[in-house]
Amino acid sequence: MNEENKIESLSTEHRIFNPPTNPTACVKSLEEYKAIYDRSINDMDGFWAERAEELLTWDRKWDTVLEYDFDKPEIKWFEGGKLNASANCLDRHLENGRRNKAALIWQGEQDNEVKVYTYDMLHREVCRFANVLKKLGVEKGDRVSIYLPMIPELAIAMLACTRIGAPHTIIFAGFSSNSLRDRINDCGVKVHITGDGVLRGGRVIPLKPNSDEALKECPTVEQCVVVPRAGNEVNMVEGRDHLWADLMSDPDITDNCPYELMDSEDPLFILYTSGSTGKPKGVFHTTGGYMTYAAHTCQWVFDLKDDDVHWCTADIGWVTGHSYIVYGPLALGATSVMFESVPTYPDPARFWQICEKFRVNIFYTAPTAIRALMREGDQWTEKYDLSSLRILGTVGEPINPEAWMWYHNQIGGGKLPIVDTWWQTETGGHVLSPLPYATPLKPGSATLPLPGIDAAIVDRHGNEVGPNEGGFLVIRKPWPGMLRGVWGNQERFKQQYFQGFPGVYESGDGARRDEDGYFWIMGRVDDVINVSGHRLGTAEIESALVSHPAVSEAAVVGMPHEIKGQSIYAYVTLKAEFDEGEDITKELRNHVRKEIGPLAAPEVIQFSPSLPKTRSGKIMRRILRKIVEGDTANLGDTSTLADPSVVTALIEGYHEIM
Ligand code: WTA
Repeated sequence: MNEENKIESLSTEHRIFNPPTNPTACVKSLEEYKAIYDRSINDMDGFWAERAEELLTWDRKWDTVLEYDFDKPEIKWFEGGKLNASANCLDRHLENGRRNKAALIWQGEQDNEVKVYTYDMLHREVCRFANVLKKLGVEKGDRVSIYLPMIPELAIAMLACTRIGAPHTIIFAGFSSNSLRDRINDCGVKVHITGDGVLRGGRVIPLKPNSDEALKECPTVEQCVVVPRAGNEVNMVEGRDHLWADLMSDPDITDNCPYELMDSEDPLFILYTSGSTGKPKGVFHTTGGYMTYAAHTCQWVFDLKDDDVHWCTADIGWVTGHSYIVYGPLALGATSVMFESVPTYPDPARFWQICEKFRVNIFYTAPTAIRALMREGDQWTEKYDLSSLRILGTVGEPINPEAWMWYHNQIGGGKLPIVDTWWQTETGGHVLSPLPYATPLKPGSATLPLPGIDAAIVDRHGNEVGPNEGGFLVIRKPWPGMLRGVWGNQERFKQQYFQGFPGVYESGDGARRDEDGYFWIMGRVDDVINVSGHRLGTAEIESALVSHPAVSEAAVVGMPHEIKGQSIYAYVTLKAEFDEGEDITKELRNHVRKEIGPLAAPEVIQFSPSLPKTRSGKIMRRILRKIVEGDTANLGDTSTLADPSVVTALIEGYHEIM
């Protein structure tokens, strides 16, 4: 999106791939999808009531299906209903024949490290840890932060929190101590759970020092649980830090822990995500609606059946892992694979080797991983038997048609449906997506809105645009999985999502709809960069840069990147007494790593004595973006610049670096 509010799309993709037929699919044809869709929009309450009833076990049924007011904003689903998420993911499966079925298959970094938890085993561990949390003083409504590698204790801790009604906030283990501290303080965490370190491609990355550093400035945290994994030395603070195993083996701790009865609208978890301005927002989801939506989308989009092995490669620190490793698959009683490591360790066949090993049926990953593996060559995919695969999925950013075709042919044997799922931390689950046995596919398109989703593309006045015209992607009616607020900041909730276009939810993405009604996502319209599928706010990175004593001003834009989709390009103006060069570049990169985390470190830093600004002092990002996109012929109107000569110098500087 540029400052002139025009959204242009250059895509010329016209291929169509018809879905395979499957007589046992949840939704079997495009006609069936259309009928369900129409019904879901015309009788929203009836549709969602049926789904909620079918998918979840409610201890008390709701009084009203939906009450909402987007202007306030206030959204309530299944008010009066009572349930527990952990009970829906565990307890009920003990009675319905799934007691000894694998709930979680954990694959550690080394091939021989595998742990399988049946529903019964997982239930017992979760109950035990829930009792541990209670003993540490956690009560219903208290917040618990989880900062762990991808190990089973992460899933166990989540479900233990939801069992006792304590909203969890998971912080991706790649975030720095400062990011951790800010998130913990924003929601006032009582107990923190951390690990010794993360194993990453054969290396150990210490985690505990980040927690120690953060907790120095987190007055609300009373206790800290430490889960050893990587084997590195940790410093234990007397009276505050406890080892997981010690707590779990306490003779007082039993594996009997009745679950807390939660109101449908009680908060389930908080997850921080970047927005266009300032600090990350604590997006929060509530129990009844989120659980219904996670189970609903998991069932229909992945056509998830009882004997399926489902593998979502995301980290649980992101919303994708919340919904499609833990809550969705477990609510459905499926078998969910959890993988600790990276796609290229020990070699680029790791994903495919795991698919063969566990006979994975549904495989869900990110375009950035597909691009990285595609680059390694086809020989890696040919080493393993991928015949168990039934459905492929992608999420996180638009998938370029070339990567789509590779995925389809090389992994899917030219036959398997690919569900390109568009959604957000805020939406709780998939929003635009094909249904695997119903929707004809177009490479690069997230295709059609799921049943219950009233999506549209509007211009900046809120009017729906015509076919193939770019605009803002909005959703006009509530759906059960949508966020209920920004933790502790109702004003920001309103301003960010409901004020741009009154009466509808604003996604922040630009898109167009083609003549068949298919959606083509064009990326963020705000100042959010999508690096390898991870959202980063330019404002956050700029603040981190400017907090360094040498920096007087910084502007950050997304630069096209072959594997990551986008990478971070920073324009920096140093204070007069500091010199440009390798040293300061390195130092600034490390500074951002420390302030936010490694994923936010700029790929390129260009020093410039000044930045292009309007006469009112606003940095013209459009120009900076055009430069890093190599599109300097189309800089647009530069007449409002205070000093147009800045631009020439910036372009020269760019060419020197790149
Ligand atoms: C982008 C991740 C195109 C989009 C689930 C969105 C996508 C942001 C897709 C949310 C997709 C996600 N095609 N773009 N299939 N999926 N995005 O909150 O810009 O980490 O707004 O949630 O990722 O990122 P978030």
